[in-house]
Amino acid sequence: MVETILSYLPKRKKGQQLKICDLTCGGGGHSEAMLMHYVKEGKRNKEEYKEGQAKEGQDSTGEVTVYGVDQDEESGKQTRERLGKFMEGVEGVKFMGINKNFGDLNCQDFQGSQVDFVLGDLGVSSHQIDLPSRGFSYSHELTSSPLDMRMSSSLPLTAADICNEWSEEVIRKVLVELGDEDWRVAGKIAGSIVERRPLKTTGDLVDAINNVVPKWSKKSPRKGALKTTSRAFQALRVAVNDEVGVLERLFEKVLPEITKSGGTVAVLTYQSMEDRVTKQAFTQHYESNGGIRKVRKESIEKDLWGNDVVEGEKVWDVVNRGGEKARKEEVEVNSRARSARLRVAKRGKRLE
Ligand SMILES: C[S@@+](CC[C@H](N)C(=O)[O-])C[C@H]1O[C@@H](n2cnc3c(N)ncnc32)[C@H](O)[C@@H]1O
Repeated sequence: MVETILSYLPKRKKGQQLKICDLTCGGGGHSEAMLMHYVKEGKRNKEEYKEGQAKEGQDSTGEVTVYGVDQDEESGKQTRERLGKFMEGVEGVKFMGINKNFGDLNCQDFQGSQVDFVLGDLGVSSHQIDLPSRGFSYSHELTSSPLDMRMSSSLPLTAADICNEWSEEVIRKVLVELGDEDWRVAGKIAGSIVERRPLKTTGDLVDAINNVVPKWSKKSPRKGALKTTSRAFQALRVAVNDEVGVLERLFEKVLPEITKSGGTVAVLTYQSMEDRVTKQAFTQHYESNGGIRKVRKESIEKDLWGNDVVEGEKVWDVVNRGGEKARKEEVEVNSRARSARLRVAKRGKRLE
């Protein structure tokens, strides 16, 4: 959905410093596309400026910085080096890497000011999935990988800790709430995990799941073992990386603070939890002197004319209600895009 994302980028104006933040830089695909977008825009502006056709306030003097954030030290380092080199000597467009959890960002990370555009491409990267040492994959070729699943080595909990130390009931809840698993199936998997302790490798977890889940189901292929395994791995990954807590922190504190009034935030979600948290933040967060709070639609009172009566201002103005899905051609090239949804909102009026 790169083209769609690029269409939301702000235009560079004369003398203006644009700051763009890629919250999930990963292998740098999106960061690189955004850098190239501004390199091309700069060239176009320069030509038009030379030929005296520049539109009001537009020339090539505005500086653009793309900040690429990732909590993964290992893959983040490679990307930072690659994009840093890639941009060497390019006028007017800069790349800066930040190795940090996006739930801990503040304006100091962007040289003390707010940013104009933020992109989040949530979840785990294909590079991380393919690395045997990380334990994200349930592929039969990687069965001896450690049951880790941390996106950063600084995180305190591994998937093995959850499988070997958490109670059966809590593991069942994790599978249901973070993996969208059926309650009955989740109970069987949690029981099998506890019975097979200690689990050390991804193969041990796959075996614990296969032990209780039929390989395929005629009635419902969704319940086949592969889908079940994928949901269980997703649930554990979300728990290990505290993805719900970090997303809530991102929407309640980080994004309202780091995004300029009128600035744009675009979030690509891939699973129901991520999409629910993003949608609720964009539609239900209100800001008053008491800070940011969530106001559920059902609890909003109406005045005589049917207008909502809520104290404070909306933090976000939704730009694409319902979000956007990937086009068929994109899904054909990249199967991950099938479940992607892009939600975009603008930072509302800021309280003084
Ligand atoms: C889906 S990949 C992004 C791929 C990237 N857009 C690209 O074009 O290559 C998600 C990346 O976000 C990172 N990530 C996930 N949660 C994060 C968090 N809370 N803070 C910082 N980085 C995070 C992961 O380490 C991973 O590299």
